[in-house]
Amino acid sequence: MCSIIGYYGDGSAAPILVRGLKRMEYRGYDSVGVATKDQQEILVKKGVGKVSDVNNMLHLDTLPGHIGIGHTRWATHGNVTDVNAHPHPSSSGKIAIVHNGIIENYSELKADLEKRGYQFKSQTDSEVIANLLQFNFDELLDIKKSMIKTTSQLKGHYAFVAMFESGTLAAAKYHEPLIIGIGKNGYFLSSDVLGFIEKTDDVIYLDNGEFVILDRLGLQIFNFDGNPVKHQVTKVSKEFADVYKGDYAHFTLKEISEQPDTIVRAGESSRDAVSNATEFIRHARNIYITGSGTSYNAALVAKYLWQKYAKIKTEPIISSELFFSPDAIEPNSILIAISQSGESADVLEAVNIAKKSNAKILSIVNILTSSLAQESALVMGMNCGPEIGVAATKSFTAQLSIIYKITEKLCDGCIKLDERKISDAVSRILADHTKIKEIAKELREIKDIYILGRAVHYPIASESALKLKELTYIHAEGIPGGELKHGPLALMDSSVYVIIINPNDHTYSDTLTSAREIKARGAKIIGISDKPSDVYDFWIEIPAIDDAFYPLIEIIPIQLLAYYCAVEKNTDPDYPRNLAKSVTVK
Ligand code: AGP
Repeated sequence: MCSIIGYYGDGSAAPILVRGLKRMEYRGYDSVGVATKDQQEILVKKGVGKVSDVNNMLHLDTLPGHIGIGHTRWATHGNVTDVNAHPHPSSSGKIAIVHNGIIENYSELKADLEKRGYQFKSQTDSEVIANLLQFNFDELLDIKKSMIKTTSQLKGHYAFVAMFESGTLAAAKYHEPLIIGIGKNGYFLSSDVLGFIEKTDDVIYLDNGEFVILDRLGLQIFNFDGNPVKHQVTKVSKEFADVYKGDYAHFTLKEISEQPDTIVRAGESSRDAVSNATEFIRHARNIYITGSGTSYNAALVAKYLWQKYAKIKTEPIISSELFFSPDAIEPNSILIAISQSGESADVLEAVNIAKKSNAKILSIVNILTSSLAQESALVMGMNCGPEIGVAATKSFTAQLSIIYKITEKLCDGCIKLDERKISDAVSRILADHTKIKEIAKELREIKDIYILGRAVHYPIASESALKLKELTYIHAEGIPGGELKHGPLALMDSSVYVIIINPNDHTYSDTLTSAREIKARGAKIIGISDKPSDVYDFWIEIPAIDDAFYPLIEIIPIQLLAYYCAVEKNTDPDYPRNLAKSVTVK
């Protein structure tokens, strides 16, 4: 996933673009570049690294001009190199483009353009857009016509912004995000409202299959057939302005710390949608629930809770796996899709597949303007505000909060989520980081860590492993407690640390037995529990709460541990290597 941005206005473009890119860096951060239109020509600066580093080196923000485009990259086609960084100029240098997505037919298009004398410098699929648009413009001598032709030739999912030597910007959206910001002194084209939120909260959300031209005449929007399209200008929710780290060292720490609020907000604000969702669930023949990464772990929690408390069976499916067994979805079913971003390509594909079997789509999503929200018959908003850290933290507990609300309804109140109580318990865990910081120091040099949990705590063990992998690069594995003796016990020795998720519920004594078996092999035990035990080398205390709700609080100390361990290891917790916040490519 990459971020793209364009600016057309009275202001100095380069610093505006660089600031916007910094805010969208979560979308991809292996390289960055900016191009502006000077008096006569298009100027490009780009390089490998984070926005601030490359800007310190190359002074991207000093490029002159009032019109420009910018990009942060998460490599898909071609290595992470300066040449592969965007913007990509056409071979004549008269057009430059920035692109997010994948052009599936780029090799055919490239071969054809090369035959016609167009040169390519990069290994990317994106560069083909620059040369194709240049070719069509050279033939048609008209920007609108050349956009219609180009979009008809491109296959794949894309959003791109092109800057012409004349100073006109043209941009197209096809299954990748592209939002127009309308400021007092200029227009923005951006992958995310965060790209321009400092300047304006007036936006237009384009639909797929539309393109935009920005020139002296102002803003014009067309569909891919060239017919003009009218859109309402809407206001972005104010909370999107809240994307500063404030006093926190990292967004990840800020987002972990916001959970006493976000758990409450998710539970309270989704109430009406949850009532409707429960009706869908009750009347569906089959219920499937899907997501990727953290969102899939939330789906596993849902399966467990709905079975245990409401006697309702749900089949969790990893989104990327559905493609390989599309027949898994029976007719008259519902698919509940969970996604923070609502833009994960795997989740959207799963939705597509399910729709082919006439499944109704319900979603639990944070970004209400996302593609997933648009594809859904019913949307339950997480309402946890922008999550910038690549590792999902507050979005996970917001997802759980909604899942608990659904459980409460499905079982006619047999469990009752008291968001305020949970919020207090989370605040108590967050009140003192001292012990967790000490344990993080212990983990600095280790190679492997295992996390053990039984029943509903197993999905939390998986989620814990994901957090530790992403943030610390330590090999981490979640294990269902009972599986230990069926294999993983062979891994236990004095070099290994094991986190035991062991709240004082029906899993407690079995999990403690597993901990003893591990300890007997020399491994060190970190116990997450409301009850102390001599088996723990380190005990992280969590408050005692109603049994049903432990998953909502037991993940918090592990998020903190992963965060502080990243800090100890000097890795960047907000932007782990090789990852992107939402994976909008397959
Ligand atoms: C979580 O920490 C990850 N960064 C990742 O697994 C993420 O949960 C996954 O890519 C799904 O994203 P989504 O919720 O935006 O669809």
